[in-house]
Amino acid sequence: MRQLPRTLVGAKLAGASALLLTSCLFAFAEPNFNGSVSAPEGALEGVLISAKKSGTNKTVTVVSDEKGAFSFPAGRLSTGDYEISIRAIGYDLESPAKISVSDGMKPVSVKLAKTKDLGAQMSNAEWIMSMPGDEKLKDFLTDCTGCHTLHRVVGSDYKADDFPDIFKRMGSYSPGSTPEAPQPLLPGPRGERPRVNAQIIKPASELLARANLSGEKTHSYAMKTLPRPKGRATKVVITEYDLNRREAQPHDVIMTKDGMIWYSDFGAQFIGSLDPATGKVTDYPIPTLKPDAPKGSLQIDADADGNLWIAMMYQAGVTKFDMKTKQATAFPVPQEWQTGSTQESMVSPQYSNVDGKIWTNNQETHKLYRVDVKTGQYEDMGEPKDVNGVSINGYGLVADPQNNPYMLEFGNTRVGKFDASAKMLTVYPTPSLRSRPRRGMMDEQGRLWFAEYAANAIGMFDPKTGAMTEWRLPTPWSNPYDAVYGKGEAWAGSMSNDQVARLDVASGTYVEYLLPRPTNIRRTILDTRGAKPVLWIGSNHGGSIIKVEPLD
Ligand code: HEC
Repeated sequence: MRQLPRTLVGAKLAGASALLLTSCLFAFAEPNFNGSVSAPEGALEGVLISAKKSGTNKTVTVVSDEKGAFSFPAGRLSTGDYEISIRAIGYDLESPAKISVSDGMKPVSVKLAKTKDLGAQMSNAEWIMSMPGDEKLKDFLTDCTGCHTLHRVVGSDYKADDFPDIFKRMGSYSPGSTPEAPQPLLPGPRGERPRVNAQIIKPASELLARANLSGEKTHSYAMKTLPRPKGRATKVVITEYDLNRREAQPHDVIMTKDGMIWYSDFGAQFIGSLDPATGKVTDYPIPTLKPDAPKGSLQIDADADGNLWIAMMYQAGVTKFDMKTKQATAFPVPQEWQTGSTQESMVSPQYSNVDGKIWTNNQETHKLYRVDVKTGQYEDMGEPKDVNGVSINGYGLVADPQNNPYMLEFGNTRVGKFDASAKMLTVYPTPSLRSRPRRGMMDEQGRLWFAEYAANAIGMFDPKTGAMTEWRLPTPWSNPYDAVYGKGEAWAGSMSNDQVARLDVASGTYVEYLLPRPTNIRRTILDTRGAKPVLWIGSNHGGSIIKVEPLD
């Protein structure tokens, strides 16, 4: 059976899970928790209402409609005590903070009050929109949101002269850092580059000093916020499962053939599974190869036999996780190739059954590596070049069914296809300049779908026609990290505004769903087994895994 990377299709999957679903649906016939949501000025559409059952790791969220009415669909909340929270920019929850759910309960009136701290609710995108300054220059701010939100930056009182040193310090941390757990890079080229390009250090410092609290006690510029969801964007159920280790940074999530969810942890030597039927999370340690180097892994993906492969970032290697024995075996990059900056961000095992090889890369040198799955022997493909000697600095790595990898150029604007037998690259530019193609996947028709981080778009390359198409996201500063396609729709998640975007490819129309909490979405996966698509993502900054189920 050919395995389709990250898009599970068809009915070949577990009849057992279908049965389970049916029995859940019939357990409670009627929606139990429902009601309306209002602020002093009246009913509000697009308020996210979240209910977390005491003693569980699960939070379920629905969104109020144009009349302010909300309803948790039948079977979603079992009887018991729940904590209530809301998301509606500009408002705080007044009441109720807790409810008791039972069958036949009365409708609940949820009351909101104007917030006293709007800044604390604003997403990265809303801060970028609001900060006074040149729109093009503001692009650098999208490189400041990987480890913490911009709220930390605008809340500081550093002067313009202080920022060059801060940019240097920010460049010295691994991307799997958080302010609670900074991970310094080892000496080497990576850790010595300021986080901001040399040419714009001065204007970037000035912009931040204008936007933060260095001059005054409060922000004096207008706060621009995004509108609340409306219409179709309110027809959704979102379920969030907290991970066991709340500090976990789930970067990539995947779904295996049995319907289980697996995640990589960007900041620690663990991977883990989530059972969607029970919410049970199980963590498994993976080897530490370089105790002094930053911890954490990035890409996780399954090979045709269902075993997992993990790219171990600054641990300089990849790990194979045997699904049967649950044993992890590391394949380190040859010692003589390594520096303190060696970084394996990607691994592409999906089609290793074709030739017994998996692909990985060294993000530091932009070299492409191929690893023999039996011997663990690395082969250095160098920095792939086309016939004119043009190379590409690949980030996202997507193998096609012949096991030739596509490389996505996050630092610039192009997509490359590497022919493994001719050892030759073909380069295709995106229509938008400086689009920053980041991560993606290949669909059943062999088309490459990818996110354009800086062009704020979903891109698609069709190798049959050579055509490259872009669909711009409606909300500015969405900065999609990854894109996924299935059944005529493409999806992408934002690193900046906590939204997931759903594109109807034929009509080019989008629906954007807001998530309940600050999330910082990286990889997205789509489950198209049912009548409606289901999207899964990791909350990189929230220590949880999130399921988004549109109701239409
Ligand atoms: C690779 C991870 C990472 C990135 C990317 C990053 N930071 Fe940070 N940032 C940290 C960590 C870790 C801390 C807390 C430790 C510290 O202050 O050095 C922090 C703290 C800060 C602080 C608070 C410092 C203080 O003294 O309170 C500011 C301001 C800041 N970052 C600005 C930025 C800006 C501006 C950017 C983008 C140019 C950025 N950061 C990008 C990791 C990062």
